[in-house]
Amino acid sequence: MIDFELAFRYADEKSPVLRQIAGNIPKGRCIVLCGNSGCGKTTLLRCINGLIPQFYEGERTGFCHLNGQDTAGMSIGEIGESAASVFQDPQSQFFTVNSSNEVAFGLENHGLPQEKIRQRVDEAFRIFHLERLKNRNVYELSSGERQLISILSAWAMDTEIFLFDEPTANLDFAATQQLKSILFALKNRAKPYCSVSTGCIISLALPMNTG
Ligand SMILES: Nc1ncnc2c1ncn2[C@@H]1O[C@H](COP(=O)(O)OP(=O)(O)OP(=O)(O)O)[C@@H](O)[C@H]1O
Ligand SMILES: [Mg+2]
Repeated sequence: MIDFELAFRYADEKSPVLRQIAGNIPKGRCIVLCGNSGCGKTTLLRCINGLIPQFYEGERTGFCHLNGQDTAGMSIGEIGESAASVFQDPQSQFFTVNSSNEVAFGLENHGLPQEKIRQRVDEAFRIFHLERLKNRNVYELSSGERQLISILSAWAMDTEIFLFDEPTANLDFAATQQLKSILFALKNRAKPYCSVSTGCIISLALPMNTG
């Protein structure tokens, strides 16, 4: 469950990007956030995943609760345990060079046993038919393939909440279909992965001519 009512102004800007916006996203709901370029979609996701105010400076008022807990009192790592983010520019979120290590990275930080990590990473590539992307240098992948790796990394974390910032930005039609099946799998996660349903926010920019 995501619950927010907030306003935000970047430190070096005169006026706020987000003015008193509020929302409530219950478990199991998938919300698509649409708006023109620059309207504040990424900024809202940063407010939810804690990058605002912990990484991006500015004035944030109001609140954002994840499963009832105020993100103001949580570290980015703690927020990451309930909400996995896929950034608009996937390269900016990679911690390693190897695609399989990248999918394993979050699990290692959670201290999972090596065997469990290996199984989960194998499973991620297998169930989404992306074995061709295993053990690859992420800098030798196309931007769409990198985006798929960051989506698999988020999936592997098995969090209750997923925040996708323009996840189809670099994907071709086939990869977009693949993302669709990943989103369905996340939304209807059946056992043994998790018994709770998943909430997710997807940000999408509208083409300029849609107003
Ligand atoms: N780090 C920052 N410092 C100052 N201003 C910023 C920063 N990041 C974004 N902005 C400004 O905040 C506004 C909203 O930006 P944001 O990235 O949230 O928009 P968006 O809706 O995600 O756009 P797009 O569809 O192009 O991704 C823009 O005017 C942008 O210039
Ligand atoms: Mg954006």
